[in-house]
Amino acid sequence: MSETSSIAAGIQAGEKYYGLKLREFWRLSLENPEAFWSEIADNIVWFEKWDKVLEWNPPFARWFVGGVLNASYNALDANLKKGLKNKVAIFWEGEEGATRSLTYYQLWKEVNKFANVLKKLGVKRGDRVTIYLPMIPELIIAMHACARIGAIHSVVFSGFSAMALADRINDAEAKVLVTADGMYRRGKVISLKSTADEAVNQAKSIEKIIVVKRAGMADVPMTNGRDYWWDELMKEAEPYCEPEPMQSTDPLFILYTSGTTGKPKGVVHSTGGYLVWAWASLKWAFDLQPDDIWWCTADLGWITGHSYIGYGPFLHGLTQIMYDGAPDYPAPDRWWEIIERYGVTAFYTAPTAIRMFMKLGDEWVRKHDLSTLRILGSVGEPINPEAWKWFHGVVGGGRCPVIDTYWQTETGGFVITPAAGIELVPLKPGSATFPLPGIHVEIVNDNGEPAKPFERGYLIILAPWPGMFMTLWRDPERYKEIYWSRFKPNEKLDFKIKPPAIYFTGDYAMKDDEGYIWMLGRVDDVIKVAGHRIGTAELESAFIGHPAVAEAAAVGKPHPIKGEAIVSFIVLKSGYEPSEDLKKDLVAWIRKTIGPVATPDELYFVSTLPKTRSGKIMRRVLKAVVAGGTLGDISTLEDATSVEEAKKAVEMLRKAMEEGGS
Ligand code: WTA
Repeated sequence: MSETSSIAAGIQAGEKYYGLKLREFWRLSLENPEAFWSEIADNIVWFEKWDKVLEWNPPFARWFVGGVLNASYNALDANLKKGLKNKVAIFWEGEEGATRSLTYYQLWKEVNKFANVLKKLGVKRGDRVTIYLPMIPELIIAMHACARIGAIHSVVFSGFSAMALADRINDAEAKVLVTADGMYRRGKVISLKSTADEAVNQAKSIEKIIVVKRAGMADVPMTNGRDYWWDELMKEAEPYCEPEPMQSTDPLFILYTSGTTGKPKGVVHSTGGYLVWAWASLKWAFDLQPDDIWWCTADLGWITGHSYIGYGPFLHGLTQIMYDGAPDYPAPDRWWEIIERYGVTAFYTAPTAIRMFMKLGDEWVRKHDLSTLRILGSVGEPINPEAWKWFHGVVGGGRCPVIDTYWQTETGGFVITPAAGIELVPLKPGSATFPLPGIHVEIVNDNGEPAKPFERGYLIILAPWPGMFMTLWRDPERYKEIYWSRFKPNEKLDFKIKPPAIYFTGDYAMKDDEGYIWMLGRVDDVIKVAGHRIGTAELESAFIGHPAVAEAAAVGKPHPIKGEAIVSFIVLKSGYEPSEDLKKDLVAWIRKTIGPVATPDELYFVSTLPKTRSGKIMRRVLKAVVAGGTLGDISTLEDATSVEEAKKAVEMLRKAMEEGGS
């Protein structure tokens, strides 16, 4: 078969699998976006209808222009009107065992009061409020209260350091900071207020700090005239706050995300487009029903928490679980116990957690009756087939589809994912399958031309979609440069919405011969060995395929002849010991699974890897350690000791090598 005819055959096979209904939705959404999105947008409540569905001045898209709405009204008031007043909105559980439940009515009351608290403290429409809280209902209350009065929230993950918090407050010029006395992690109380104080010392825009009593800490330092206890303010607050009529194109929130440079980027999301996307993407991917119990294990400090805890589930009037604690504390079955107790039906988590539980052993899962589960989801990084199969088989009992959702902070919601709410295509472990309606993706080569099946290329998006971010906070130039300048339109690309512009995701991907999309990791983490490109995600997935490996990280190291050489860090599964033989075996394994080009030059056994708090391996840190350079911004590190560990491993090996060892 000639090359071209085999591509044609591949595409045809893909069409066979790519469900007809899904394809029809996709076609309609791009060929007639006005009609398509008008219908979808009607699922949320507008005070005033939009004049124009889309205004597209590349690379700036404005959705539902002229439309007026309020996010808090949509999340809460709209549900009270639908008769869901007494439905539980949140079942909350703290690590220490405390539980709370809030009905839609109770949550609505709290949000109204807190909105009035903010107003009284001088917060106005368009002002920024930074929220630095653990996973407690007050975090959602504060977000919705901001939305209610038209203030822009900027949630900062509660595990961030004072410096990281200060940077984010300063960039947003936030007026008010909402925090807590402390938080629980792994049985210990960690002070948050002292970190917040340290941050505010370097962040002069903050006028008021509101402090939730979460950990019952004694001697919390409170500055007179600046700091207030949440409870005391709430006692005096008026019960009702009229929701502010917001333009669809008014920013709802800023969320900072890290890029390749040290400075965090303030991703700005709109009100109307974002909410429509949060509503539609959740419906399409997970097909949630009124009696579902949804549990997304993300933290609200990240986009997954924003879209699929903070907004999406409320737009559907769902009941959800919110857990504030470590997943394996006090025992490795904490999550499974929660699923059993509440009868969770839809469970959405991350590959890193799945792999951790896999390592801890099946017996912890099997102790619990998880038969209520009907659908599972994964997010944040490519899920390796082994973890996918374990999740599907052991957690899902072989009966729940695994919805592998590919997306980014910038996309606002899922973009490539199986769509159980439209038509579930046959799943392939490790593939996020196909784009949702409205998402026009392509995988291109260096020249920006469509890549062939199985050829690794860059994932780009060719048309605006409602959930896309509006800009980077006060930095439209950086927005244009980072995301919209890498590829230029060319005649080989079929732009369905004009004028043409290309959004670059920064991710590698490929299509298989049936058109399924496989994500292959970040472009910025790529290693180039003797001119060959090797994705770190690809390498790591290969390592994880070895029976002894629990987790793996690979980074590039400058090499005088090959350009870059691969250095890998391996966490072994329990029951395996580091040895020279195992090292040789692993190298041979990589040569076998990817090819000799991927042979690691150095391989270190470590007991943990440095990770961001959202669970992504910080290759930057490993890279710096390996190269002996500076560590750069590691404010997102999960556990600083693992940097030390990585350093130690490198030093030990270097020494052994100098002494004529391995
Ligand atoms: C990666 C998280 C493969 C990807 C929602 C993306 C994934 C980055 C997947 C965004 C997935 C996320 N399969 N890779 N299902 N989901 N990624 O902004 O590299 O924290 O560009 O958003 O995570 O990370 P972010």
